[in-house]
Amino acid sequence: MKALSILRQEHSALTAVLHGLQFLAGQIERGEKCDIRVLRAMLFYIDSFPDRFHHPKEDGYLFPTIQKRTGAADAVIAKLEEEHHQGMLAIRVVEQRLLHYEEGGAAYAMPLVQSLHDYIEAYRRHIRTEEEVLLPIAEQVLLPEDWRELGEVFSGHLDPLLGLDARQGFDRLFTHIVNIAPPPLGVGPEA
Ligand SMILES: [Fe+2]
Ligand SMILES: [Fe+2]
Repeated sequence: MKALSILRQEHSALTAVLHGLQFLAGQIERGEKCDIRVLRAMLFYIDSFPDRFHHPKEDGYLFPTIQKRTGAADAVIAKLEEEHHQGMLAIRVVEQRLLHYEEGGAAYAMPLVQSLHDYIEAYRRHIRTEEEVLLPIAEQVLLPEDWRELGEVFSGHLDPLLGLDARQGFDRLFTHIVNIAPPPLGVGPEA
């Protein structure tokens, strides 16, 4: 099903960026040199891509379609919607602490590392809940016409804001992150 594979692909890209953030948080925590440019690019991606392209698919289309077919997912959907909102607030905290770290140096490292760990863990848990709890319910209750419509919306055939053209910039940004991130994260120069 196209809609499912689009959601899972987006979760994979987000998971890759979360893995990258964890690697960089580890470098900062150990007092090692960390490429702030890569950290900033990853934060920009994870701050803007889900908000513009991923969460609208879930909040605006997937969740209401599931709720049209069953009430069994109401509680988990309320929790996931709240987590989308909390995630937006949590990334602001990370960005603010990064500024403190850049200006104030090592004394500000641990608050930044802590906010990164909290953010990464919460986001991973969120994705796990969607993949392991919500999507299996969707697979049980959605009808073929629901999947067809979600597939068309997610491919941009019905909603140009979620379309391929609009998201090309983010695909380029993801490639850019891979290109500037040093191994083992990406293919950029060694730190
Ligand atoms: Fe979500
Ligand atoms: Fe998601």
